[in-house]
Formats: sequence, structure tokens, C-alpha cells
Amino acid sequence: MPEVRDPEVRQPGGEPLLQVRDLTVRYASDEGPVTAVDGISFDVGPGETLGIVGESGSGKSAASMALMGLLPRSAEVTGSVRLRGRELLGLADGRMREIRGRHIAVIFQDALSALNPMMTVGAQLTEAVLVHHPDRTARELRRRAEELFDLVGIASAATRLDQYPHEFSGGMRQRALIAMGIANDPDILIADEPTTALDVTVQAQVLDVIERVQQGTGTAVLLITHDLGVVAGLADRVMVMYAGAKLEEGPVESIFYEPAHPYTSGLLAALPRVDRRTGRLHPIPGQPPLPHSRPAGCPFQPRCAHADPGVCSSVTSATSATTQVSPGHTTNCVRVHEIASVGR
Ligand SMILES: Nc1ncnc2c1ncn2[C@@H]1O[C@H](COP(=O)(O)OP(=O)(O)O)[C@@H](O)[C@H]1O
Ligand SMILES: [Mg+2]
Repeated sequence: MPEVRDPEVRQPGGEPLLQVRDLTVRYASDEGPVTAVDGISFDVGPGETLGIVGESGSGKSAASMALMGLLPRSAEVTGSVRLRGRELLGLADGRMREIRGRHIAVIFQDALSALNPMMTVGAQLTEAVLVHHPDRTARELRRRAEELFDLVGIASAATRLDQYPHEFSGGMRQRALIAMGIANDPDILIADEPTTALDVTVQAQVLDVIERVQQGTGTAVLLITHDLGVVAGLADRVMVMYAGAKLEEGPVESIFYEPAHPYTSGLLAALPRVDRRTGRLHPIPGQPPLPHSRPAGCPFQPRCAHADPGVCSSVTSATSATTQVSPGHTTNCVRVHEIASVGR
């Protein structure tokens, strides 16, 4: 079991900062519309870290792009996304651009393609600040850029700012991208697979940077990853997605110690464990369904060792976690109580 974040050091927020309700994303495709996100709802409190976990293709990126208003026009987005009570879906592009960067910032997996190879890292960083603070002087911008580099742990900031992205290592580029993300003190930082492209040691360093930045600035973080191990040390709460649906959500310690969905239990069994001598992992058999061939009812059912086809196919609420198992901990599994009695 990876070390789970100590509940004592959490700073749970009060009123939700971000309120997402019934968010649905459909893409057009040759075979008809593809439902990438299937009516998910969640809240993020101020300063809170929410981990969104699920295998590749589960709709994590589609959901985060929808929050940022970054999906192509051809994608159909419905539901509601409220930031401090204000509806973001349907805002004009210009208004959304003001919100992006200033209130919600995003960092992606691929730092290299997110940076402009022709500009120094410092110029890109000051440009990010300048967009929202056009009145800052060159000297103020430079000072802010150095401060940001210090915050993300890039030493010799003054020299580093004048270098180009190719002069940075992968980990350093990701740090620079985090610096750009937080340049305008956003309320929320969305980190979509921020460490997936990095090797394990550098991954840990970048996660430390995200944690330090979160604690130093009070920014809420949406940490999106296919790796449940990544969220263990960082998230306050975890939401588990599968085939566009929300299967389970709860405080990080309940998700790890009392998973209430067989899919979550499966993800946990597949994690490398430091406390287990044999390095044997137990991947979940089978593959997620393709968007066009999702089963009725619970989408995980075909791979679930505990499924009762008669029950699991017929439930209509199976794409949202609505059954409460403990305070703040919900699952979509309609058989959660039967399964608990036989043991997962
Ligand atoms: N531009 C697109 N057009 C059609 N389908 C897409 C497009 N982008 C993603 N999808 C589909 O939407 C689903 C969710 O994808 P995505 O949000 O990228 O998942 P994740 O980030 O969890 O790996 C997948 O089935 C994917 O194939
Ligand atoms: Mg993704």
C-alpha cells in the first residue's frame, strides 16, 4: 500500500469552488456519437486536491478539457460547470479565455509540445503573466518569473530563464510548465497525467513540486492519472472513472482501505506494493468496452468477478456513484452490500 496522505495535514475546503453536474461529452464519429463522459458530477473545494483515476480512454481528459472550454466545437458538451457559482459552460470564447490561466490553469503530460521551442522559457513564462497583467513592467515580470522558478524548485533561476526548452531535462520542463500554470495564482490547477512521460525518480520530484505549490499557494488541484499510486500521497479525495462514468468517489483513505467498487479493488490489486515481497501484480482481466459497445447498466460488469448480470445490466443509475457507503464515500455498485458480505 503506498503511503496515504495524512488526514491531519489536509486543508479541506468549505463551499465548493468548482461544482460539476451531469457533465456529458459526446464526440461525433463515423459510427455515430461517442459518449466520452457520461453524466459525471463532483465538487472541488478551495485548496483541495481531487484525484481523478481511470484506465486510458475512461474520459478523464475529455472531462478536464470540457471544464476548460478547450474541446473542439464539434464536441457536444452538456450539464453544468460552476466556478464560484458562475456557470462556465456556454460562455463566449473571450470570457473563457480570461478565466483560463487566471482562474483555471492546466498542465499536460507532454511538456515539450506545450512549450514553444523558439522562445526562451523565461519569455514564455513572462508572457503567461503579461496576458492577465498587461500593466506589469519588464522588471516586475522578471522578478515574478524568478520567484516562480524558485517555487517549482528550478535552481539558478536567473540563468535558466534565458535558456530554451531543449536545454531543459524532461523533469525541468514539467517544472517550468507548472510555473506557467500557477503564474497568475489560479483557483484551480488541472494536472492531466503530469508525470506519465517521466521516469520514476523524476515523477516523484514533480509530484513533490505539485504538492509544495498546492500548499504554498492554496490552489485547488485536479490531479488526473491512470495510476492510482500517484494520487495516494497527494489527493484529499479520489474519483474513479471508467468508460466515461463515475464508479466511485471518496476520501483518499477510504478509497485505499475500504474500496466499495470491484473496479477500484482491481486497480488496487494491480498496484506494485512495497510491503509485498513477491513483485506479483494482478492486472484486471479484459479490456474496457469500446464506446460503441458499452453494455447496458454498469459498464464494468463484463469484467467484474462479482457481477450478477440480471441485476447489473438492468440498473439505470449505473453510470453515477449514488450509493453512499460512508460519509462522503459513494459507489455506483448496486451489489456493494452483497459483495461486502462475501469479501472482495
Ligand atoms: N476527438 C475525438 N473524437 C472521437 N472520440 C474521441 C476523441 N477524443 C477522445 N475520444 C474518445 O473519448 C473517450 C475518452 O477519451 P479521453 O478523454 O482521452 O480518455 P482518458 O483521458 O481517460 O484516457 C475514448 O473512448 C476516446 O477514444
Ligand atoms: Mg487522457
